[in-house]
Amino acid sequence: MSFKTTTLGILGGGQLGKMLIQEAVNLNIELFVLDPDQHAPCKHLVPHFTCGSLQDFNTVYEFGKQVEVLTIEIEHVNVDALFKLEEEGVKVFPQPKVLKMVQDKGAQKVFYKENNIPTAPFFLTNDKAESLQIWQQQGKAFMQKLRKGGYDGKGVTKLSHEADLQNAFDAPCVMELLVNFKKEIAVIVARNTKGELAVYDVVEMDFNPQQNLVEFLQMPANVSKSVESEAKAIAQKVAEKADIIGILAVEMFLTHDDEILVNEIAPRAHNSGHQTIEGCRTSQYAQHLRAILNLPLGNTTCHTPSIMVNLLGAAGQTGDAIYEGLEEAMQLPNVYVHLYGKKTTKPYRKMGHVTILHENIEEAIKNARLVQSILKVTSL
Ligand SMILES: Nc1ncnc2c1ncn2[C@@H]1O[C@H](COP(=O)(O)OP(=O)(O)O)[C@@H](O)[C@H]1O
Ligand SMILES: [Mg+2]
Repeated sequence: MSFKTTTLGILGGGQLGKMLIQEAVNLNIELFVLDPDQHAPCKHLVPHFTCGSLQDFNTVYEFGKQVEVLTIEIEHVNVDALFKLEEEGVKVFPQPKVLKMVQDKGAQKVFYKENNIPTAPFFLTNDKAESLQIWQQQGKAFMQKLRKGGYDGKGVTKLSHEADLQNAFDAPCVMELLVNFKKEIAVIVARNTKGELAVYDVVEMDFNPQQNLVEFLQMPANVSKSVESEAKAIAQKVAEKADIIGILAVEMFLTHDDEILVNEIAPRAHNSGHQTIEGCRTSQYAQHLRAILNLPLGNTTCHTPSIMVNLLGAAGQTGDAIYEGLEEAMQLPNVYVHLYGKKTTKPYRKMGHVTILHENIEEAIKNARLVQSILKVTSL
């Protein structure tokens, strides 16, 4: 089989797009990016950058018409335009039908239920009154989630006590039983146009108990062999049942009894896969390109354990970003820094990430703590 270099469009020009571009350059692909931000991290990295809305039908349609293959780095895009482009012969991966399901947390939950994929019990509601009615009837704690538009914890709220109810959303929601989990884990899986699958090791998200924020992502996760293999099997089943082509991140809860429940999925490169760049034989970005360009999938082996820390904008700092302690952090062994190139820092904005490798995961954790104490994103 011969491989003809192609034109690839990416909807979204943020950090995930940037890391995808780095791999696409290796395959000599001609790149097009659409992003609403004039200062998007990808703007100067591709020959064809369009500034425009990802939600507008015509903008997405006109952009997509220029390319042979179209993909995403963010799922909140105009899916009707993608259906039309697909009909007209553009190869859209992930497929619009997958995106449509994922854009709606309610449709996701129904998909898990219909396919016997373990997930927390739930109810679908249309407005606040219905959500509160479920809360009252059941007498249990719930996580209320907006069906559409949520990300990074915006769009979810805990309804546990009477006092929480004032925060309830008044919109179509998923009311999901609160899960008392031991850990949050994620598995990244890729599926190509031939239906072949490749799965990565389980990643564990470690929370800082004081701040209740994800502090470290650890690969491989500290879980039993049976949890490891079951989590991988579930992720593969989700990919097959969704019929996805491309990379898929499956976020899961691990309960205190080692039960695995799927939380949500993202049909794209994912924050929990950043450490595949330095820690695995094939990064999630390279793997996504292989999957959507009809190439053989790469080796997913995790060759060295790793910790990944997000580099967040410091509290109380807004303005042009500066990176304090970069040299000192990079003096540590096997520390790999990624700065996303966002001009402005804001409190807790994702400004970059750092991957720390070590044969011994405890040493990696130690170095990751050092990196966190040394490296700060502030402003002038
Ligand atoms: N049913 C639940 N029980 C307990 N915690 C939950 C539940 N659903 C979500 N969470 C917590 O909220 C976070 C964000 O929820 P998620 O559905 O993943 O939304 P987002 O799209 O913002 O990532 C999860 O990572 C988890 O920590
Ligand atoms: Mg999530």
